[in-house]
Amino acid sequence: MAIKRILVYPEDCLKQVAKPVKVFDDGLNDLVQDLLDTMYDAPGVGLAAPQIGVSLRVAVTDVDWRNEDGIKNHQVWINPEFLWKSDETEITEEGCLSLPEIYGDVERPSAVRLRWYDLEGKKHEQDFEGFQAVALQHEFDHLDGKVFIDYFTPLKRRMITKKLKKKYLS
Ligand code: NI
Repeated sequence: MAIKRILVYPEDCLKQVAKPVKVFDDGLNDLVQDLLDTMYDAPGVGLAAPQIGVSLRVAVTDVDWRNEDGIKNHQVWINPEFLWKSDETEITEEGCLSLPEIYGDVERPSAVRLRWYDLEGKKHEQDFEGFQAVALQHEFDHLDGKVFIDYFTPLKRRMITKKLKKKYLS
């Protein structure tokens, strides 16, 4: 399919709550292929549809491919929903393709139980922990119009937003 432009925060679509997928058709297949092409090109380990300007609850991840010498093993997440999050948390340094060169520590639950749908519309449920759990929470925040700097202080968030606007959106 195609490599799309990745939106930079605070572009509008990144701040909107995305709509659930209702139809599992060729259009959805095309969207997932665009997400994968764009993620691998970036390169990144995860990308959500709002990051390419599509306000739908769809994301892709491939959390190990950079360490694995190009062996790709992507996963597709449609209408994902956390059924449970652990009280136990962990702190991870996060970054995001929509916030170039910005990194920072974020504290999140270290284990989650997820329900999601695949491209055929089949429902799945599974537990995740460690880096995968963190990566999924980061990606699915995008579906709720959230980015990782929303966990920072208002002052820090304003400074980063100003910097990104000046560098990428002016
Ligand atoms: Ni992100």
